[in-house]
Amino acid sequence: MNMKDLKVIHKINEIRPLINNNLGKIALVPTMGALHKGHKSLIEKASEQNEFVVVSVFVNPVQFGVNEDYDKYPRCLEKDVELAKEAGADIVFAPSVDEMYTDIYFKEKETTLVCPPYKYVNRLCGKSRPGHFDGVCTVVSKLFNITKCNRAYFGQKDAQQLFIVQKMVKELNFDIEIVPCPIVREDDGLAVSSRNSYLSYEERKIAPNIYKALMCAKKLKEGGIKTPDILIDASYAYLKDFDTDYIEIVSKEDFCPISEVKENSLMLIAAKTKKNSVRLIDNMEL
Ligand code: PAF
Repeated sequence: MNMKDLKVIHKINEIRPLINNNLGKIALVPTMGALHKGHKSLIEKASEQNEFVVVSVFVNPVQFGVNEDYDKYPRCLEKDVELAKEAGADIVFAPSVDEMYTDIYFKEKETTLVCPPYKYVNRLCGKSRPGHFDGVCTVVSKLFNITKCNRAYFGQKDAQQLFIVQKMVKELNFDIEIVPCPIVREDDGLAVSSRNSYLSYEERKIAPNIYKALMCAKKLKEGGIKTPDILIDASYAYLKDFDTDYIEIVSKEDFCPISEVKENSLMLIAAKTKKNSVRLIDNMEL
């Protein structure tokens, strides 16, 4: 087990002098904390592929809508530090909100934002979470600038986020390689997520139906069915215990809907449990 001497840093002016080119390749694993085995796999991969690994832990208010779970989002820095250390991180960067955003943001809700094109953010998760991807791209850009990372690790569970961040990096000329990391699942198929902790006992039992819905579409596609609507209808049958936000099949190239399922097609689902309104997302290449 890799157990480095990990530092926990809260201030931007304290992390800056610790990071320089002499360290070798620098990796960033951006997180909102409540780290689980999905994050662990990202940190482990980052530490295998780079000489220096920064894990950021920051629940970013700018990416949450007014009625979302910003206040109740799980915060457990001590446990996060333990997991990051075990997985091989060198620094946990855990700034406060005041550290990341200037006074004016709090007084007037005003800050410079990085806003991806509307075409990509007004769909899927962005449709029910207006402003979410502006918040994500803004904080991710800030973290890139603060950590001067060469590579950044993102989970494929947040597929739309990954697509939008990759696009941002290309279009804003960040000299950073984005490394996509596979979805980590529980034994019953449920994609691991910090929000799974909100699930009641009963909801936890039905949560893997989202994975079953994806598997159903994948099997039908492998059997030769290529019409998105047929696959979507078949998958819906598994989602009757949820309030489905969306179920769509898109091309991985541009994240736009497709008329026929080919290689590189992704089915994406977002669905809320009925009792605790836990919003779960998942996706699968068909
Ligand atoms: O995926 C997340 O946890 C967040 O959206 C991220 C990338 C850490 C930005 O706050």
